[in-house]
Amino acid sequence: MRSLVVVLSLVLAQSWSQSVDPVQYPVQDPVQDPVQDLVRRWSDLGLGLFRTMASRSDQNLLFSPSGAGLSLSSVLERSSGIGRDQLDRALGARGLQSSDLVSGLRAAVGGDTLGGVAWFVAQGAEPDDAYRKSLEQSFGAELRTLDFGSVQDSVDSIQRWVLEQTRDRVQIHRPGLDLGPDPQLVLASALHIQARFLVPFNASQTVQERFFVDRYHTVMVPMMLSSGRFFLAYDRVLRTGILRLALDGGLALLVLLPDQNLHLSDLEDQLSHAQVQAWIRALRKTRLEVQLPRFVLEHSAVLKRALQQLQVTQVFDDNSLSQVLDAAALVVDETSAPGGVASSFKTPPPRLTVNRPFLLVVYHEVTGTLQLIGRVVDPTQK
Ligand SMILES: *[C@@H]1O[C@H](CO)[C@@H](O)[C@H](O)[C@H]1NC(C)=O
Repeated sequence: MRSLVVVLSLVLAQSWSQSVDPVQYPVQDPVQDPVQDLVRRWSDLGLGLFRTMASRSDQNLLFSPSGAGLSLSSVLERSSGIGRDQLDRALGARGLQSSDLVSGLRAAVGGDTLGGVAWFVAQGAEPDDAYRKSLEQSFGAELRTLDFGSVQDSVDSIQRWVLEQTRDRVQIHRPGLDLGPDPQLVLASALHIQARFLVPFNASQTVQERFFVDRYHTVMVPMMLSSGRFFLAYDRVLRTGILRLALDGGLALLVLLPDQNLHLSDLEDQLSHAQVQAWIRALRKTRLEVQLPRFVLEHSAVLKRALQQLQVTQVFDDNSLSQVLDAAALVVDETSAPGGVASSFKTPPPRLTVNRPFLLVVYHEVTGTLQLIGRVVDPTQK
């Protein structure tokens, strides 16, 4: 334990000279690209929803800001009046043709890595052909008509779609899936990401090691090892190390590791798009051995209550929207990108061991889109 503290402080001390400046508000430059603006607003909405969820549990969590942004944006042009105003405010898409922006962003990120979206609508509540076309083309959304008369069958259909999208991983929490008295539209987003590391973890060096869940609990986890040049920063204000692991497909995984004896909730309270961008800007390249647990996160969340807390209420009150569901899965193991290379150093570099609870972010580097935000308290749990 003691040696770990020493090693970690040593590693992080190197990057102290480039530590993160406190976030200044406002941070955005005056002329902002509308797609960048959309990304920023989706991130802030997603991180706001994540904070709400995080404050209600102490367990592992995973949530997709881009999936939720995509599914909520897809109903924007169908709503009107106060409902539309509230959604506009939450999504920050006021006065913008959101479907064009979303197509632009989907093209920039590529494929379905923002997440899949489905509309489960009641018979008779289906959108017209033009809207349906825009759903498919701009949002990549699927439309399924359900007979909500049988709640059981409806939930089964939604579950099947979620399993298809997450490679059979995510089970929705049925007792928590409140569809309301007369469901008209249930929105679902789902995203599955298998991390493929550009600097590989060598499976033959994975060993069982201790992970300190809290002061009283340790668990044994398969701890992976990688050696190479990584990007690292240290936030002195939040006393948190930030490690970036590059993935293929233009994605990267940020590991946010607070110093020992700090609570993850202190870090969660500070999450914003501007803060994440400030961490990314502060990263500097350094030689490192990284020890990271192998883990799988699978999570589903119903968002109605959290959205209501963020002042999106009218669409639920007038029943134009009945429930919003997000399902996300992340697999972190020794899978590497084709052609990934490890470095070997003559003198062993400092070692960073991720052996206590941490937060993670998966993001698309060019656009800054946040695909996933997660909390790993116990890597042996899903
Ligand atoms: C993985 O580790 C083993 C054992 O230390 C070593 O023999 C092997 O060369 C390593 N493989 C790669 C690709 O670095």
